[in-house]
Amino acid sequence: MISPALPAELKAALEQALHGLQRDAAATRAAAISQTYRDGGNSSPIRTATDALAYAGARMPATYAAVAASLNALREIRPDFAPATLLDVGAGPGTASWAAAQAFESLSGFTLLDANGALRTLALTLAQDSRLAKANYQLGDARKLLGDAPEAALVIASYVINELDDSARDGFADALWRKTGDTLLIIEPGTPAGYARILAVRARLIAQGARVIAPCPHDNACPLQPPDWCHFVQRLPRSRLHQHLKGAELPYEDEKFIYVALSRSPPPSRPSRVLTQPELTKAAITAKLCTPQGLAHVVAPRRDKPAYARFRRLSWGDAISTDTARE
Ligand SMILES: C[S@@+](CC[C@H](N)C(=O)[O-])C[C@H]1O[C@@H](n2cnc3c(N)ncnc32)[C@H](O)[C@@H]1O
Repeated sequence: MISPALPAELKAALEQALHGLQRDAAATRAAAISQTYRDGGNSSPIRTATDALAYAGARMPATYAAVAASLNALREIRPDFAPATLLDVGAGPGTASWAAAQAFESLSGFTLLDANGALRTLALTLAQDSRLAKANYQLGDARKLLGDAPEAALVIASYVINELDDSARDGFADALWRKTGDTLLIIEPGTPAGYARILAVRARLIAQGARVIAPCPHDNACPLQPPDWCHFVQRLPRSRLHQHLKGAELPYEDEKFIYVALSRSPPPSRPSRVLTQPELTKAAITAKLCTPQGLAHVVAPRRDKPAYARFRRLSWGDAISTDTARE
């Protein structure tokens, strides 16, 4: 399992890059960029080196934490997975590449694609003394670059699909899948719209032969009935600088995200997934689970000490063996 906190090397490089910036100006810029996202916009307001730094300082810790959590879920199901090559599409400041490098010692070839020159320049600066220093970071529209991009064992698109027009998403998903040698990981913001985008890509690629590795323990249609929807939460620490850039008081934040990991081969096991924080009462713990057979609310009564003890350790997003889920 890798930590949701930025690796020390990346944190130091980011703080050093932010050092020369006027902090209040950077915080104002970060707030404006975040507001654009909240209003349904994309990363187009990130144009200058200051914009890129302000964005990375404010958002990179959280998107890193979401990618780390998704990779941990993938590795739990596929502990033998040892990709040599990564294709990070819509890589921005290189967030997903850093997380993948932490998760997989086996990675030696890194290709990153992004249309934003300021974010690319920042990514290269942050990576200059790291394993990513020799990465091949191509600048341009990923929809075009993907045609000639090398196939990779692991392909990641983190917080990118939400930036594309609806009409471009299907073609983009197909292109990602064509470049996937083994596993494709897609991460989106943990909102009902992000969940809907993940469901659409998931269904589309299952129809092309993909198998779900995580979070779902099946390749069937999602058993949740609207308005119910699925997402996860990852807590991450906030440094002083991160707090300042976000105008936040708490030394931590909770990033809501949704992801799907799809593979060319079936997973070795299909554990159930905990869909929200289990409910604890005096009499029992109830866990809402997505199981291979569908949705289940599984109860561990306090009098059943072994089951109760197991359920006490469960957290939102955990995988739980199907036998345990039938308690
Ligand atoms: C929200 S940022 C996410 C960056 C990074 N993947 C992360 O998780 O922190 C979205 C990125 O997607 C890039 N992007 C959006 N549409 C793109 C396209 N058509 N081609 C290439 N990059 C694109 C943006 O430039 C931006 O860097």
